[in-house]
Amino acid sequence: MTNTPRISGISGPTITAELMRGCFMHEVVRVGWEKLLGEIIRIDGDLAVIQVYEETLGLKIGDPVERTGELLSVELGPGLLGGIFDGIQRPLPSLYERWGDYISKGAIVPRLDKIRKWRFTPVAKAGDRVEGGTVLGTVEETPAITHRIMVPPCVSGTIAAINSGEFTIAEPVAELDDGTRITMRQRWNIREPRPTAERLGFNVPMLTGQRILDTLFPVAEGGSAIIPGGFGTGKTVLEQTIAKFAAASVIIYIGCGERGNEMSDVLHQFPLLSDPYTGRPLMERTILIANTSNMPVAAREASIYTGMAMAEYYRDMGLRVALMADSTSRWAEALREISSRLEEMPGEEGYPTYLASRLAAFYERAGRFRCLGRKEEVGAITVIGAISPPGGDFSEPVTQASMRTASTFWALDYDLAYQRHFPAINWRTSYSLVAPNLSRWFAENAATDWGAMVEEANAILQREEELADIAKVVGIDAMGEKERVEMELARLIREGYLRQSSTHPTDAFCSQVRQTKLLAMFLDYARTVSSAVHKGCPLETVLRAPMVEALLRAREMPEDGLDAELQSLREEVRAYFGKGWA
Ligand SMILES: Nc1ncnc2c1ncn2[C@@H]1O[C@H](COP(=O)(O)OP(=O)(O)O)[C@@H](O)[C@H]1O
Ligand SMILES: [Mg+2]
Repeated sequence: MTNTPRISGISGPTITAELMRGCFMHEVVRVGWEKLLGEIIRIDGDLAVIQVYEETLGLKIGDPVERTGELLSVELGPGLLGGIFDGIQRPLPSLYERWGDYISKGAIVPRLDKIRKWRFTPVAKAGDRVEGGTVLGTVEETPAITHRIMVPPCVSGTIAAINSGEFTIAEPVAELDDGTRITMRQRWNIREPRPTAERLGFNVPMLTGQRILDTLFPVAEGGSAIIPGGFGTGKTVLEQTIAKFAAASVIIYIGCGERGNEMSDVLHQFPLLSDPYTGRPLMERTILIANTSNMPVAAREASIYTGMAMAEYYRDMGLRVALMADSTSRWAEALREISSRLEEMPGEEGYPTYLASRLAAFYERAGRFRCLGRKEEVGAITVIGAISPPGGDFSEPVTQASMRTASTFWALDYDLAYQRHFPAINWRTSYSLVAPNLSRWFAENAATDWGAMVEEANAILQREEELADIAKVVGIDAMGEKERVEMELARLIREGYLRQSSTHPTDAFCSQVRQTKLLAMFLDYARTVSSAVHKGCPLETVLRAPMVEALLRAREMPEDGLDAELQSLREEVRAYFGKGWA
Protein backbone atom coordinates (compact mmCIF):
# COMPACT_ATOMS: atom_id res chain seq x y z
CA MET A 1 0.00 0.00 0.00
CA THR A 2 2.72 2.43 0.97
CA ASN A 3 4.41 2.18 -2.41
CA THR A 4 1.32 2.49 -4.55
CA PRO A 5 0.48 5.78 -6.29
CA ARG A 6 -1.69 8.08 -4.23
CA ILE A 7 -3.10 11.59 -4.15
CA SER A 8 -0.69 14.18 -2.75
CA GLY A 9 -2.57 17.38 -3.65
CA ILE A 10 -6.02 18.49 -4.78
CA SER A 11 -6.87 21.72 -6.57
CA GLY A 12 -10.40 21.72 -7.98
CA PRO A 13 -10.51 19.53 -11.07
CA THR A 14 -6.76 18.87 -11.02
CA ILE A 15 -4.99 16.65 -8.54
CA THR A 16 -1.36 15.72 -7.96
CA ALA A 17 -0.36 12.12 -7.43
CA GLU A 18 2.90 10.80 -6.06
CA LEU A 19 4.81 7.55 -6.63
CA MET A 20 3.83 7.74 -10.31
CA ARG A 21 7.21 6.78 -11.78
CA GLY A 22 6.81 5.18 -15.22
CA CYS A 23 3.56 6.92 -16.08
CA PHE A 24 3.25 8.77 -19.40
CA MET A 25 1.66 11.96 -20.69
CA HIS A 26 -2.08 11.68 -21.33
CA GLU A 27 -2.22 8.27 -19.65
CA VAL A 28 -5.68 7.56 -18.27
CA VAL A 29 -5.82 6.97 -14.52
CA ARG A 30 -8.53 6.06 -12.04
CA VAL A 31 -8.54 8.40 -9.08
CA GLY A 32 -9.66 7.71 -5.50
CA TRP A 33 -11.79 4.93 -4.09
CA GLU A 34 -14.56 5.78 -6.54
CA LYS A 35 -12.17 5.35 -9.48
CA LEU A 36 -12.88 8.71 -11.11
CA LEU A 37 -11.67 9.04 -14.67
CA GLY A 38 -8.59 11.23 -15.00
CA GLU A 39 -5.79 11.96 -17.45
CA ILE A 40 -2.14 12.84 -16.78
CA ILE A 41 -1.38 16.34 -18.05
CA ARG A 42 2.04 16.96 -16.48
CA ILE A 43 4.84 14.79 -15.14
CA ASP A 44 7.47 16.05 -12.76
CA GLY A 45 9.81 13.34 -11.44
CA ASP A 46 7.55 10.82 -9.77
CA LEU A 47 4.76 13.38 -9.39
CA ALA A 48 1.96 13.53 -11.93
CA VAL A 49 -0.66 16.22 -12.37
CA ILE A 50 -3.98 14.74 -13.36
CA GLN A 51 -7.09 16.43 -14.69
CA VAL A 52 -10.15 14.65 -13.44
CA TYR A 53 -13.17 14.37 -15.70
CA GLU A 54 -15.60 13.90 -12.83
CA GLU A 55 -16.58 15.81 -9.70
CA THR A 56 -13.59 15.76 -7.33
CA LEU A 57 -15.48 16.69 -4.18
CA GLY A 58 -14.78 14.06 -1.52
CA LEU A 59 -11.31 13.06 -2.72
CA LYS A 60 -8.68 13.01 0.05
CA ILE A 61 -4.90 13.18 0.23
CA GLY A 62 -3.58 9.63 0.37
CA ASP A 63 -6.47 8.14 -1.67
CA PRO A 64 -5.21 5.65 -4.26
CA VAL A 65 -4.53 6.42 -7.92
CA GLU A 66 -4.57 3.58 -10.40
CA ARG A 67 -2.70 3.65 -13.71
CA THR A 68 -4.33 2.07 -16.76
CA GLY A 69 -1.51 2.24 -19.31
CA GLU A 70 -4.02 3.59 -21.86
CA LEU A 71 -4.68 6.89 -23.58
CA LEU A 72 -8.02 8.64 -23.41
CA SER A 73 -9.91 6.97 -26.20
CA VAL A 74 -13.28 6.59 -27.79
CA GLU A 75 -14.90 3.34 -28.70
CA LEU A 76 -16.04 3.38 -32.32
CA GLY A 77 -18.43 0.95 -33.95
CA PRO A 78 -22.10 0.28 -34.69
CA GLY A 79 -24.39 1.73 -32.06
CA LEU A 80 -23.01 5.27 -31.99
CA LEU A 81 -25.77 6.74 -34.16
CA GLY A 82 -28.80 7.79 -32.18
CA GLY A 83 -26.60 7.80 -29.11
CA ILE A 84 -26.58 10.44 -26.39
CA PHE A 85 -23.27 10.55 -24.53
CA ASP A 86 -21.53 12.65 -21.93
CA GLY A 87 -18.08 14.17 -22.58
CA ILE A 88 -16.27 10.91 -21.87
CA GLN A 89 -18.62 8.81 -23.99
CA ARG A 90 -20.75 7.38 -21.21
CA PRO A 91 -24.19 6.84 -22.73
CA LEU A 92 -26.58 9.15 -20.91
CA PRO A 93 -29.69 7.01 -21.25
CA SER A 94 -28.01 4.02 -19.62
CA LEU A 95 -26.56 6.23 -16.91
CA TYR A 96 -30.05 7.57 -16.24
CA GLU A 97 -31.44 4.05 -16.13
CA ARG A 98 -28.99 2.95 -13.50
CA TRP A 99 -28.65 5.98 -11.33
CA GLY A 100 -31.61 8.14 -12.14
CA ASP A 101 -30.98 11.73 -13.05
CA TYR A 102 -27.66 11.90 -11.30
CA ILE A 103 -24.59 10.45 -12.95
CA SER A 104 -22.79 8.38 -10.39
CA LYS A 105 -19.11 9.10 -10.00
CA GLY A 106 -16.62 6.70 -11.50
CA ALA A 107 -19.51 4.94 -13.16
CA ILE A 108 -17.99 2.37 -15.46
CA VAL A 109 -20.67 1.66 -18.02
CA PRO A 110 -20.09 0.19 -21.45
CA ARG A 111 -19.70 2.97 -23.99
CA LEU A 112 -21.16 0.96 -26.83
CA ASP A 113 -23.72 -1.80 -26.35
CA LYS A 114 -21.73 -5.02 -25.93
CA ILE A 115 -24.70 -7.37 -25.94
CA ARG A 116 -26.55 -6.26 -29.03
CA LYS A 117 -25.88 -8.33 -32.12
CA TRP A 118 -25.49 -6.75 -35.54
CA ARG A 119 -25.87 -8.47 -38.88
CA PHE A 120 -22.47 -8.31 -40.58
CA THR A 121 -22.43 -8.75 -44.36
CA PRO A 122 -18.89 -9.28 -45.65
CA VAL A 123 -17.74 -7.56 -48.82
CA ALA A 124 -14.15 -8.85 -48.61
CA LYS A 125 -13.14 -12.52 -48.84
CA ALA A 126 -10.44 -14.85 -47.58
CA GLY A 127 -7.17 -14.29 -49.44
CA ASP A 128 -7.80 -10.54 -49.95
CA ARG A 129 -4.92 -8.24 -49.12
CA VAL A 130 -6.17 -5.57 -46.72
CA GLU A 131 -4.81 -2.45 -45.05
CA GLY A 132 -6.06 0.29 -42.75
CA GLY A 133 -9.34 1.56 -44.18
CA THR A 134 -10.21 -1.47 -46.33
CA VAL A 135 -13.92 -2.22 -45.97
CA LEU A 136 -14.45 -5.75 -44.69
CA GLY A 137 -18.22 -5.66 -44.64
CA THR A 138 -21.30 -3.66 -43.73
CA VAL A 139 -23.86 -3.40 -40.98
CA GLU A 140 -27.25 -1.66 -41.24
CA GLU A 141 -26.60 0.54 -38.24
CA THR A 142 -29.85 2.44 -38.73
CA PRO A 143 -32.24 2.55 -41.69
CA ALA A 144 -30.50 5.81 -42.67
CA ILE A 145 -26.85 4.76 -42.49
CA THR A 146 -24.99 1.68 -43.65
CA HIS A 147 -22.03 1.34 -41.33
CA ARG A 148 -18.89 0.13 -43.03
CA ILE A 149 -16.68 -2.10 -40.95
CA MET A 150 -13.13 -1.08 -41.80
CA VAL A 151 -9.70 -2.45 -41.03
CA PRO A 152 -8.34 -0.15 -38.29
CA PRO A 153 -5.56 2.28 -39.31
CA CYS A 154 -2.08 0.73 -39.00
CA VAL A 155 -3.34 -2.86 -39.43
CA SER A 156 -2.68 -4.78 -42.64
CA GLY A 157 -2.31 -8.32 -43.91
CA THR A 158 -4.18 -11.02 -45.81
CA ILE A 159 -7.60 -12.23 -44.73
CA ALA A 160 -7.38 -15.82 -43.45
CA ALA A 161 -11.07 -16.07 -42.58
CA ILE A 162 -14.09 -13.78 -42.70
CA ASN A 163 -17.51 -14.53 -41.27
CA SER A 164 -21.05 -13.60 -42.11
CA GLY A 165 -23.89 -13.46 -39.60
CA GLU A 166 -24.84 -11.82 -36.34
CA PHE A 167 -22.10 -10.60 -34.04
CA THR A 168 -21.59 -8.34 -31.07
CA ILE A 169 -19.08 -5.54 -31.48
CA ALA A 170 -16.56 -7.56 -29.46
CA GLU A 171 -16.69 -10.73 -31.52
CA PRO A 172 -14.20 -11.12 -34.38
CA VAL A 173 -15.67 -10.91 -37.87
CA ALA A 174 -12.39 -11.56 -39.64
CA GLU A 175 -8.94 -12.94 -38.96
CA LEU A 176 -5.73 -12.07 -40.79
CA ASP A 177 -3.04 -14.58 -41.63
CA ASP A 178 -0.83 -13.30 -38.79
CA GLY A 179 -3.58 -14.14 -36.32
CA THR A 180 -4.88 -10.57 -35.91
CA ARG A 181 -8.58 -10.71 -35.14
CA ILE A 182 -10.74 -7.85 -36.34
CA THR A 183 -13.93 -6.94 -34.53
CA MET A 184 -16.55 -4.34 -35.34
CA ARG A 185 -15.18 -1.99 -32.72
CA GLN A 186 -12.15 0.27 -32.83
CA ARG A 187 -10.49 2.18 -30.03
CA TRP A 188 -9.02 5.54 -30.90
CA ASN A 189 -7.02 8.11 -28.95
CA ILE A 190 -9.29 11.16 -29.07
CA ARG A 191 -6.44 13.66 -29.28
CA GLU A 192 -4.97 12.17 -32.42
CA PRO A 193 -6.52 12.90 -35.83
CA ARG A 194 -7.41 9.66 -37.63
CA PRO A 195 -5.26 9.23 -40.73
CA THR A 196 -6.55 9.80 -44.26
CA ALA A 197 -5.05 9.27 -47.72
CA GLU A 198 -5.04 12.92 -48.83
CA ARG A 199 -6.51 16.30 -47.98
CA LEU A 200 -8.55 17.82 -50.81
CA GLY A 201 -9.58 21.38 -51.61
CA PHE A 202 -13.07 22.83 -51.23
CA ASN A 203 -15.47 22.78 -54.15
CA VAL A 204 -18.92 21.99 -52.78
CA PRO A 205 -20.93 23.95 -50.22
CA MET A 206 -22.44 22.36 -47.17
CA LEU A 207 -25.92 23.76 -47.47
CA THR A 208 -27.57 24.71 -44.20
CA GLY A 209 -31.04 25.58 -45.48
CA GLN A 210 -30.53 29.07 -44.03
CA ARG A 211 -30.78 31.68 -46.77
CA ILE A 212 -28.38 34.27 -45.40
CA LEU A 213 -25.73 31.60 -44.88
CA ASP A 214 -26.04 29.64 -48.11
CA THR A 215 -26.54 32.68 -50.33
CA LEU A 216 -24.17 35.24 -48.87
CA PHE A 217 -21.68 33.36 -46.67
CA PRO A 218 -21.60 29.69 -47.67
CA VAL A 219 -19.56 27.20 -45.69
CA ALA A 220 -17.70 24.61 -47.75
CA GLU A 221 -18.21 20.93 -47.24
CA GLY A 222 -15.15 20.11 -45.18
CA GLY A 223 -14.75 23.75 -44.22
CA SER A 224 -15.26 25.40 -40.88
CA ALA A 225 -17.53 28.21 -39.80
CA ILE A 226 -17.61 30.08 -36.54
CA ILE A 227 -20.61 31.77 -34.96
CA PRO A 228 -19.47 34.39 -32.48
CA GLY A 229 -22.23 36.26 -30.70
CA GLY A 230 -23.04 37.86 -27.39
CA PHE A 231 -25.51 36.38 -24.95
CA GLY A 232 -28.97 35.86 -26.45
CA THR A 233 -28.03 36.67 -30.05
CA GLY A 234 -29.06 33.23 -31.27
CA LYS A 235 -25.97 31.00 -31.33
CA THR A 236 -27.71 28.01 -29.84
CA VAL A 237 -30.84 28.38 -31.97
CA LEU A 238 -28.67 28.65 -35.10
CA GLU A 239 -26.48 25.64 -34.19
CA GLN A 240 -29.59 23.57 -33.54
CA THR A 241 -31.31 24.75 -36.70
CA ILE A 242 -28.27 23.80 -38.75
CA ALA A 243 -28.09 20.43 -36.97
CA LYS A 244 -31.68 19.78 -38.07
CA PHE A 245 -31.32 20.91 -41.68
CA ALA A 246 -27.69 20.64 -42.79
CA ALA A 247 -27.10 18.66 -45.96
CA ALA A 248 -24.82 16.14 -44.24
CA SER A 249 -25.18 12.40 -43.80
CA VAL A 250 -24.17 12.35 -40.15
CA ILE A 251 -24.68 15.07 -37.54
CA ILE A 252 -22.66 15.31 -34.35
CA TYR A 253 -23.90 17.90 -31.88
CA ILE A 254 -21.73 18.77 -28.89
CA GLY A 255 -23.28 20.81 -26.10
CA CYS A 256 -20.16 22.01 -24.32
CA GLY A 257 -20.38 23.84 -21.02
CA GLU A 258 -23.72 25.53 -21.76
CA ARG A 259 -26.77 25.54 -19.51
CA GLY A 260 -28.21 22.13 -18.73
CA ASN A 261 -31.80 23.13 -19.50
CA GLU A 262 -30.83 24.04 -23.08
CA MET A 263 -29.17 20.70 -23.58
CA SER A 264 -32.11 18.88 -22.07
CA ASP A 265 -34.31 20.70 -24.64
CA VAL A 266 -32.08 19.21 -27.33
CA LEU A 267 -32.19 15.77 -25.75
CA HIS A 268 -35.97 15.85 -25.66
CA GLN A 269 -36.56 17.60 -28.98
CA PHE A 270 -34.17 15.81 -31.31
CA PRO A 271 -35.63 12.32 -30.87
CA LEU A 272 -38.97 13.76 -32.07
CA LEU A 273 -37.59 15.41 -35.21
CA SER A 274 -37.67 14.01 -38.68
CA ASP A 275 -35.07 14.36 -41.38
CA PRO A 276 -36.11 17.08 -43.87
CA TYR A 277 -34.57 15.08 -46.73
CA THR A 278 -35.96 11.60 -46.04
CA GLY A 279 -38.74 12.06 -43.48
CA ARG A 280 -37.10 9.42 -41.27
CA PRO A 281 -36.24 10.10 -37.61
CA LEU A 282 -33.34 12.55 -37.46
CA MET A 283 -31.67 10.58 -34.66
CA GLU A 284 -30.97 7.73 -37.09
CA ARG A 285 -28.04 9.81 -38.32
CA THR A 286 -27.31 11.97 -35.28
CA ILE A 287 -25.08 11.67 -32.21
CA LEU A 288 -25.54 14.02 -29.25
CA ILE A 289 -22.80 14.77 -26.75
CA ALA A 290 -23.82 16.65 -23.65
CA ASN A 291 -21.32 18.19 -21.31
CA THR A 292 -23.31 20.90 -19.59
CA SER A 293 -22.10 23.69 -17.32
CA ASN A 294 -22.87 21.67 -14.18
CA MET A 295 -20.62 18.83 -15.35
CA PRO A 296 -16.87 18.81 -14.61
CA VAL A 297 -14.86 21.49 -16.40
CA ALA A 298 -12.07 19.18 -17.57
CA ALA A 299 -14.54 17.00 -19.49
CA ARG A 300 -15.34 19.92 -21.81
CA GLU A 301 -12.16 19.35 -23.72
CA ALA A 302 -12.82 15.62 -23.78
CA SER A 303 -16.32 16.24 -25.18
CA ILE A 304 -14.92 18.24 -28.09
CA TYR A 305 -12.34 15.59 -28.96
CA THR A 306 -14.73 12.70 -28.39
CA GLY A 307 -17.15 14.26 -30.89
CA MET A 308 -14.35 14.90 -33.36
CA ALA A 309 -13.02 11.33 -33.20
CA MET A 310 -16.55 10.04 -33.89
CA ALA A 311 -16.86 12.48 -36.80
CA GLU A 312 -13.57 11.21 -38.26
CA TYR A 313 -14.71 7.62 -37.95
CA TYR A 314 -17.86 8.25 -40.03
CA ARG A 315 -15.83 10.38 -42.43
CA ASP A 316 -13.55 7.37 -42.91
CA MET A 317 -16.61 5.46 -44.16
CA GLY A 318 -16.84 8.02 -46.99
CA LEU A 319 -19.66 9.99 -45.38
CA ARG A 320 -20.27 13.72 -45.05
CA VAL A 321 -20.31 14.69 -41.41
CA ALA A 322 -21.32 18.00 -39.85
CA LEU A 323 -20.05 18.68 -36.34
CA MET A 324 -21.52 21.48 -34.20
CA ALA A 325 -19.91 22.65 -30.99
CA ASP A 326 -21.81 24.99 -28.67
CA SER A 327 -19.83 26.66 -27.22
CA THR A 328 -16.11 26.51 -27.94
CA SER A 329 -15.65 29.40 -25.49
CA ARG A 330 -16.59 27.13 -22.59
CA TRP A 331 -13.87 24.73 -23.66
CA ALA A 332 -11.39 27.62 -23.85
CA GLU A 333 -12.45 28.71 -20.36
CA ALA A 334 -11.81 25.19 -19.11
CA LEU A 335 -8.32 25.33 -20.65
CA ARG A 336 -7.78 28.63 -18.84
CA GLU A 337 -8.88 27.21 -15.52
CA ILE A 338 -6.69 24.11 -15.77
CA SER A 339 -3.75 26.17 -17.00
CA SER A 340 -4.00 28.55 -14.08
CA ARG A 341 -4.12 25.63 -11.65
CA LEU A 342 -0.93 24.34 -13.28
CA GLU A 343 0.50 27.83 -12.73
CA GLU A 344 1.48 28.07 -16.38
CA MET A 345 2.55 31.40 -17.75
CA PRO A 346 -0.72 33.07 -18.77
CA GLY A 347 -1.22 34.62 -22.19
CA GLU A 348 -3.84 37.15 -23.26
CA GLU A 349 -6.73 37.55 -20.81
CA GLY A 350 -5.38 34.68 -18.73
CA TYR A 351 -5.86 32.09 -21.47
CA PRO A 352 -2.94 29.71 -21.90
CA THR A 353 -0.39 30.69 -24.53
CA TYR A 354 -1.29 27.53 -26.48
CA LEU A 355 -4.97 28.56 -26.83
CA ALA A 356 -4.62 29.55 -30.49
CA SER A 357 -2.75 26.40 -31.45
CA ARG A 358 -5.30 24.21 -29.65
CA LEU A 359 -8.18 25.89 -31.48
CA ALA A 360 -6.34 25.74 -34.81
CA ALA A 361 -5.63 22.03 -34.35
CA PHE A 362 -9.33 21.45 -33.70
CA TYR A 363 -10.52 23.33 -36.80
CA GLU A 364 -7.85 21.64 -38.89
CA ARG A 365 -9.50 18.30 -38.23
CA ALA A 366 -12.29 19.57 -40.50
CA GLY A 367 -11.72 18.91 -44.19
CA ARG A 368 -12.49 16.91 -47.30
CA PHE A 369 -10.26 13.90 -47.59
CA ARG A 370 -9.59 10.88 -49.69
CA CYS A 371 -10.30 7.94 -47.43
CA LEU A 372 -7.51 5.91 -45.90
CA GLY A 373 -7.07 2.72 -47.90
CA ARG A 374 -9.75 3.77 -50.45
CA LYS A 375 -8.36 6.66 -52.44
CA GLU A 376 -11.32 6.68 -54.83
CA GLU A 377 -13.67 7.63 -52.00
CA VAL A 378 -14.07 10.99 -50.31
CA GLY A 379 -15.31 11.81 -46.81
CA ALA A 380 -15.71 15.19 -45.18
CA ILE A 381 -16.15 16.88 -41.83
CA THR A 382 -17.62 20.36 -41.69
CA VAL A 383 -17.20 22.07 -38.33
CA ILE A 384 -19.46 24.79 -37.00
CA GLY A 385 -18.28 26.27 -33.73
CA ALA A 386 -20.20 28.77 -31.62
CA ILE A 387 -18.19 31.32 -29.67
CA SER A 388 -19.48 33.31 -26.71
CA PRO A 389 -17.33 36.45 -26.48
CA PRO A 390 -18.02 38.29 -23.21
CA GLY A 391 -20.11 41.38 -23.97
CA GLY A 392 -20.18 40.42 -27.66
CA ASP A 393 -16.68 41.90 -28.08
CA PHE A 394 -15.05 40.08 -30.99
CA SER A 395 -11.57 41.38 -30.17
CA GLU A 396 -11.23 38.82 -27.37
CA PRO A 397 -8.71 35.96 -27.74
CA VAL A 398 -11.06 33.03 -28.51
CA THR A 399 -12.84 34.84 -31.36
CA GLN A 400 -9.58 36.20 -32.73
CA ALA A 401 -7.80 32.84 -32.64
CA SER A 402 -10.78 31.08 -34.23
CA MET A 403 -11.03 33.71 -36.98
CA ARG A 404 -7.49 32.91 -37.97
CA THR A 405 -8.35 29.30 -38.84
CA ALA A 406 -12.04 29.11 -39.72
CA SER A 407 -12.79 30.10 -43.31
CA THR A 408 -16.39 31.21 -42.78
CA PHE A 409 -17.42 33.84 -40.25
CA TRP A 410 -21.06 34.29 -39.23
CA ALA A 411 -21.16 37.26 -36.89
CA LEU A 412 -24.23 37.50 -34.67
CA ASP A 413 -25.31 40.98 -33.79
CA TYR A 414 -26.94 42.39 -30.66
CA ASP A 415 -28.81 45.11 -32.57
CA LEU A 416 -30.38 42.68 -35.02
CA ALA A 417 -31.34 40.29 -32.22
CA TYR A 418 -32.81 43.23 -30.31
CA GLN A 419 -34.90 44.14 -33.37
CA ARG A 420 -35.83 40.45 -33.52
CA HIS A 421 -34.31 40.17 -36.97
CA PHE A 422 -33.34 36.47 -36.91
CA PRO A 423 -31.02 34.84 -37.71
CA ALA A 424 -29.22 37.91 -36.34
CA ILE A 425 -26.26 37.49 -38.74
CA ASN A 426 -24.62 40.79 -39.54
CA TRP A 427 -24.31 40.84 -43.35
CA ARG A 428 -21.78 43.68 -43.25
CA THR A 429 -19.18 41.98 -41.05
CA SER A 430 -19.72 38.31 -41.88
CA TYR A 431 -17.65 36.71 -44.62
CA SER A 432 -16.85 33.46 -46.40
CA LEU A 433 -13.32 33.07 -47.69
CA VAL A 434 -14.32 29.93 -49.61
CA ALA A 435 -17.12 31.54 -51.66
CA PRO A 436 -14.87 31.75 -54.76
CA ASN A 437 -14.15 27.99 -54.51
CA LEU A 438 -17.88 27.28 -54.51
CA SER A 439 -18.98 29.61 -57.31
CA ARG A 440 -18.78 26.90 -59.93
CA TRP A 441 -20.97 24.58 -57.88
CA PHE A 442 -23.59 27.31 -57.49
CA ALA A 443 -23.44 28.14 -61.20
CA GLU A 444 -24.05 24.49 -62.07
CA ASN A 445 -26.60 23.74 -59.37
CA ALA A 446 -28.37 26.95 -58.34
CA ALA A 447 -28.48 29.18 -61.42
CA THR A 448 -25.99 29.87 -64.20
CA ASP A 449 -25.95 33.53 -63.13
CA TRP A 450 -26.01 32.81 -59.37
CA GLY A 451 -22.82 34.78 -58.77
CA ALA A 452 -24.28 37.84 -60.50
CA MET A 453 -27.53 37.48 -58.55
CA VAL A 454 -25.68 37.40 -55.24
CA GLU A 455 -23.64 40.42 -56.28
CA GLU A 456 -26.80 42.31 -57.20
CA ALA A 457 -28.36 41.54 -53.80
CA ASN A 458 -25.15 42.57 -52.08
CA ALA A 459 -25.05 45.84 -54.00
CA ILE A 460 -28.60 46.66 -52.89
CA LEU A 461 -27.71 45.95 -49.25
CA GLN A 462 -24.50 47.90 -49.47
CA ARG A 463 -26.25 50.89 -51.04
CA GLU A 464 -28.71 50.87 -48.13
CA GLU A 465 -25.84 51.10 -45.71
CA GLU A 466 -24.45 54.19 -47.45
CA LEU A 467 -27.90 55.77 -47.63
CA ALA A 468 -28.64 54.96 -43.99
CA ASP A 469 -25.51 56.91 -43.02
CA ILE A 470 -26.72 59.91 -45.00
CA ALA A 471 -30.27 59.56 -43.63
CA LYS A 472 -28.87 59.69 -40.11
CA VAL A 473 -27.47 63.13 -40.88
CA VAL A 474 -30.15 64.75 -43.06
CA GLY A 475 -33.21 62.80 -41.93
CA ILE A 476 -35.16 60.32 -44.04
CA ASP A 477 -37.57 62.93 -45.43
CA ALA A 478 -34.74 64.94 -46.92
CA MET A 479 -33.61 61.95 -49.00
CA GLY A 480 -34.32 61.94 -52.73
CA GLU A 481 -37.10 59.78 -54.15
CA LYS A 482 -34.66 57.52 -55.97
CA GLU A 483 -32.73 56.94 -52.73
CA ARG A 484 -35.92 56.25 -50.80
CA VAL A 485 -36.82 53.61 -53.40
CA GLU A 486 -33.41 52.03 -53.06
CA MET A 487 -33.90 51.83 -49.31
CA GLU A 488 -37.29 50.23 -49.77
CA LEU A 489 -35.83 47.55 -52.08
CA ALA A 490 -33.13 46.77 -49.53
CA ARG A 491 -35.77 46.49 -46.82
CA LEU A 492 -37.60 43.86 -48.87
CA ILE A 493 -34.44 41.78 -49.28
CA ARG A 494 -33.65 42.06 -45.57
CA GLU A 495 -37.11 41.19 -44.35
CA GLY A 496 -38.26 38.91 -47.11
CA TYR A 497 -35.03 37.03 -47.79
CA LEU A 498 -32.36 37.37 -45.10
CA ARG A 499 -34.80 37.07 -42.28
CA GLN A 500 -35.84 33.48 -41.63
CA SER A 501 -37.96 31.98 -38.89
CA SER A 502 -36.47 28.95 -37.18
CA THR A 503 -39.92 27.82 -36.07
CA HIS A 504 -42.12 28.35 -39.14
CA PRO A 505 -42.97 24.99 -40.76
CA THR A 506 -42.01 26.05 -44.30
CA ASP A 507 -39.64 28.93 -43.66
CA ALA A 508 -37.34 27.15 -41.17
CA PHE A 509 -35.65 25.20 -43.96
CA CYS A 510 -35.06 26.72 -47.41
CA SER A 511 -33.67 24.41 -50.09
CA GLN A 512 -31.24 25.77 -52.66
CA VAL A 513 -33.93 25.54 -55.34
CA ARG A 514 -36.25 27.61 -53.21
CA GLN A 515 -33.49 30.11 -52.40
CA THR A 516 -32.88 30.58 -56.12
CA LYS A 517 -36.57 31.20 -56.81
CA LEU A 518 -37.00 33.63 -53.94
CA LEU A 519 -33.86 35.59 -54.68
CA ALA A 520 -34.80 35.79 -58.38
CA MET A 521 -38.22 37.10 -57.37
CA PHE A 522 -36.78 39.93 -55.25
CA LEU A 523 -34.21 40.87 -57.88
CA ASP A 524 -36.88 40.87 -60.61
CA TYR A 525 -38.96 43.12 -58.46
CA ALA A 526 -36.03 45.43 -57.81
CA ARG A 527 -35.29 45.70 -61.54
CA THR A 528 -38.90 46.35 -62.45
CA VAL A 529 -39.23 49.03 -59.78
CA SER A 530 -35.90 50.69 -60.64
CA SER A 531 -36.80 50.88 -64.28
CA ALA A 532 -40.27 52.28 -63.51
CA VAL A 533 -38.76 54.92 -61.22
CA HIS A 534 -36.25 55.76 -63.93
CA LYS A 535 -39.19 56.45 -66.21
CA GLY A 536 -40.88 58.69 -63.67
CA CYS A 537 -42.85 56.37 -61.40
CA PRO A 538 -43.25 58.29 -58.10
CA LEU A 539 -42.04 57.09 -54.68
CA GLU A 540 -45.60 56.87 -53.37
CA THR A 541 -46.50 54.32 -56.04
CA VAL A 542 -43.57 52.15 -54.93
CA LEU A 543 -44.22 52.45 -51.19
CA ARG A 544 -47.93 51.68 -51.68
CA ALA A 545 -47.42 48.72 -54.03
CA PRO A 546 -50.13 46.26 -52.94
CA MET A 547 -48.09 43.12 -53.59
CA VAL A 548 -45.32 43.97 -51.11
CA GLU A 549 -47.03 42.00 -48.34
CA ALA A 550 -47.19 38.94 -50.58
CA LEU A 551 -43.51 39.35 -51.54
CA LEU A 552 -42.53 39.44 -47.88
CA ARG A 553 -44.59 36.35 -47.14
CA ALA A 554 -43.34 34.33 -50.11
CA ARG A 555 -40.71 32.69 -47.88
CA GLU A 556 -43.54 31.07 -45.92
CA MET A 557 -45.45 29.73 -48.92
CA PRO A 558 -45.67 25.96 -49.05
CA GLU A 559 -43.72 24.23 -51.79
CA ASP A 560 -46.93 23.04 -53.40
CA GLY A 561 -48.00 25.70 -55.85
CA LEU A 562 -45.03 27.97 -55.09
CA ASP A 563 -44.15 28.31 -58.77
CA ALA A 564 -47.71 29.27 -59.67
CA GLU A 565 -47.84 31.79 -56.82
CA LEU A 566 -44.55 33.37 -57.84
CA GLN A 567 -45.70 33.53 -61.46
CA SER A 568 -48.94 35.28 -60.58
CA LEU A 569 -47.08 37.68 -58.27
CA ARG A 570 -44.73 38.50 -61.13
CA GLU A 571 -47.69 39.25 -63.39
CA GLU A 572 -49.27 41.44 -60.74
CA VAL A 573 -46.01 43.39 -60.43
CA ARG A 574 -45.81 43.88 -64.21
CA ALA A 575 -49.41 45.03 -64.38
CA TYR A 576 -49.00 47.48 -61.49
CA PHE A 577 -45.73 49.04 -62.65
CA GLY A 578 -46.65 48.61 -66.30
CA LYS A 579 -48.92 51.69 -66.38
CA GLY A 580 -46.70 53.80 -68.51
CA TRP A 581 -43.45 53.14 -66.61
CA ALA A 582 -42.37 49.61 -67.39
N1 LIG B 1 -33.57 32.06 -35.77
C1 LIG B 1 -34.34 32.49 -34.75
N2 LIG B 1 -35.68 32.63 -34.92
C2 LIG B 1 -36.46 33.06 -33.92
N3 LIG B 1 -36.01 33.39 -32.69
C3 LIG B 1 -34.70 33.27 -32.46
C4 LIG B 1 -33.79 32.83 -33.47
N4 LIG B 1 -32.54 32.82 -32.95
C5 LIG B 1 -32.67 33.25 -31.67
N5 LIG B 1 -33.96 33.52 -31.36
C6 LIG B 1 -34.46 34.02 -30.07
O1 LIG B 1 -33.37 34.46 -29.27
C7 LIG B 1 -33.31 33.74 -28.05
C8 LIG B 1 -31.88 33.50 -27.64
O2 LIG B 1 -31.25 32.67 -28.58
P1 LIG B 1 -30.07 31.67 -28.16
O3 LIG B 1 -29.76 30.86 -29.36
O4 LIG B 1 -30.41 30.92 -26.93
O5 LIG B 1 -28.91 32.70 -27.87
P2 LIG B 1 -27.40 32.43 -27.44
O6 LIG B 1 -27.14 30.96 -27.57
O7 LIG B 1 -26.59 33.24 -28.41
O8 LIG B 1 -27.27 32.94 -26.06
C9 LIG B 1 -34.10 32.47 -28.33
O9 LIG B 1 -34.66 31.95 -27.17
C10 LIG B 1 -35.15 32.94 -29.31
O10 LIG B 1 -36.23 33.54 -28.64
MG1 LIG C 1 -26.52 29.55 -26.26
